[in-house]
Amino acid sequence: MPAPWVFIIIGSDSDAKAMDAACAALDEFGVAYEMIVASAHRSPERAKQAIANAENNGAAVFIAAAGMAAHLPGVVASFTTKPVIGVPLASGSLQGLDSLYAIVQMPPGIPVATVAIGGARNAGILAVQILATSDEALAAKLRESRVTMAAAVAEKSKNVERSTR
Ligand code: RP5
Repeated sequence: MPAPWVFIIIGSDSDAKAMDAACAALDEFGVAYEMIVASAHRSPERAKQAIANAENNGAAVFIAAAGMAAHLPGVVASFTTKPVIGVPLASGSLQGLDSLYAIVQMPPGIPVATVAIGGARNAGILAVQILATSDEALAAKLRESRVTMAAAVAEKSKNVERSTR
């Protein structure tokens, strides 16, 4: 059986750069992904088809990112029972608050796990964490990354630590 992978769907090609950090996180953990553009508003049929195809082809987690009236993550969640992570993007004059509210305020029954505005890296890491619930090697890599992160904090502290005592 092929390894489970992550399907990233973004509302516009103008969202792609903001999602580099999600792809980088998945790359770091060796998790495969595909990313496409399909708009909930401009190309709803394409979005619906892409979600169905991805699910049929073994996508285990969905990451959906959009800006402004960001209905895409909710639409993705309506078409799949796989976990959906929503990434609000700061692409309009409201700087992402609009997309945050649109993504986070899902009706009971159809959840979208919403990360911070522009929180693409956390979306990638959360996807890895979801896959790691049934993959001990991935879980071990996550634990290792926490150790590395903690060591980096201690190292950075050395550059700014001060005391008058
Ligand atoms: C949203 O509108 C997209 O997700 C994007 O963040 C924003 C602007 O899209 P473009 O006009 O740049 O295609 O649907």
